[in-house]
Amino acid sequence: MFKCTNCDYASPTKLGKCPLCGEFWCFVESVDNSKATKKWNIKWHEIKEQITKKDIVFWQIKEKELKRVLSRGIKQSALYLLGWEPGIGKSTIVLQIIQDLVQNNENIKIWYFSGEENIDQIYDRLKRLNLNIGDKIKIFHTNSLEDITMTAETNGFDIIIVDSIQTIYSNNIDWVAGSIWQVKYISENISTFSKKNWITSMIIWHVTKWWEIAWPKYLEHIVDVVLQIDGDRFGQYRFLRSQKNRFDATDEVGIFEMTLFGLKPVYDLKDRILNSANISIPWNVLTIWLDGARPVITTLEVLLNKSFGKYPQRTVIWVDSNRVNLIVAILERYLKINIWFFDIYVNIPWEFKFFDSWLDLVIACAIFWQYKNKIIDKNTIFLWELWLWWQVLKSKLHEKRLKEIPEWFEIIDFSNLKNIVQIPNFI
Ligand code: TYD
Ligand code: MG
Repeated sequence: MFKCTNCDYASPTKLGKCPLCGEFWCFVESVDNSKATKKWNIKWHEIKEQITKKDIVFWQIKEKELKRVLSRGIKQSALYLLGWEPGIGKSTIVLQIIQDLVQNNENIKIWYFSGEENIDQIYDRLKRLNLNIGDKIKIFHTNSLEDITMTAETNGFDIIIVDSIQTIYSNNIDWVAGSIWQVKYISENISTFSKKNWITSMIIWHVTKWWEIAWPKYLEHIVDVVLQIDGDRFGQYRFLRSQKNRFDATDEVGIFEMTLFGLKPVYDLKDRILNSANISIPWNVLTIWLDGARPVITTLEVLLNKSFGKYPQRTVIWVDSNRVNLIVAILERYLKINIWFFDIYVNIPWEFKFFDSWLDLVIACAIFWQYKNKIIDKNTIFLWELWLWWQVLKSKLHEKRLKEIPEWFEIIDFSNLKNIVQIPNFI
């Protein structure tokens, strides 16, 4: 810290003018050595006792989609961070996690500190979500860190929620709420406070478009679990995933839909996709897409149109356009077809972002089948990966993907296919 030599005012940065006494150029660095000189005096058996005294507790979660991401539940004394852009559904999902927790864990005590909404607004939301947790959790409206830590410390609670950290400030830091110094100080304090008192803390964080500034790496480091709820803010679906998890796998995703009455878990995604897709048309192909480690059946739309411009268009939505260009190059080179004069459109419907790079063959086949004017049978699913030197390989987690396919589907077995030149044999 830097201290004013005139009035002892402390600031994390060196200021030109003291905001308290008005002196100029009076700040000098001050180092607090009192903690550094303290001796390490915990003996081994005491540490051992501490560990055995408190069994490691996970508060149970039962709902299936939440459980995909938080399979062991919420850990006692751990620090959780939940972030994404404003309006995506963070407060909503947190209230639903709370509901699950109070239903499945007897005597659990939760406090919800909101710096954003007042108590009436939160109760109104609880009513809208039809959650009967009003008497099991305590709801506070506050913007002060000291309020939060003192109240929670003296009342023996299990879980505290801070919504959101950007709206909370500490009196010890002379910066506005949401500033980097406030956030750093508050998160470190909540972390120490959680570990010391065996209280689980869940911090909500608004990610704004200035991504790096808005999601400081140190925040990720100090917490045990980083959750995100993403998707299209104006769309129907929301995806809950963990970016970091010290207690569970991080490659699972829970799928929800935003309704008038909160986020509803989606259990019938496969049926929805299969029912709604009119897949007996040349530009619609089915594949199994991987989101993390979760296989999801999905359609992929490919359209070829004669191009009238000098350069044909490659319009690609939710798929990597470089991959599509690469696939076109492979098809032209090895199957000797001339698709240069076609505009190519590739789209994944269903608001899903296509991070999976193991599905080149489905795009290649969709383009090729359409070029040949053949209709792909609606009960055909394409998997498999394509390499630049035209070899066909199994896609990542191939067997897991295969399990997702309904039994009435025909699986074109490409296991004997050595390279892409043999693809016309399958038409
Ligand atoms: P909210 O959880 O407040 O988002 P965040 O905390 O991430 O800012 O939810 C935001 C949006 O969700 C809001 O624009 C309205 C919508 N919403 C619904 O459509 N249905 C609901 O039942 C609720 C509670 C919210
Ligand atoms: Mg909110």
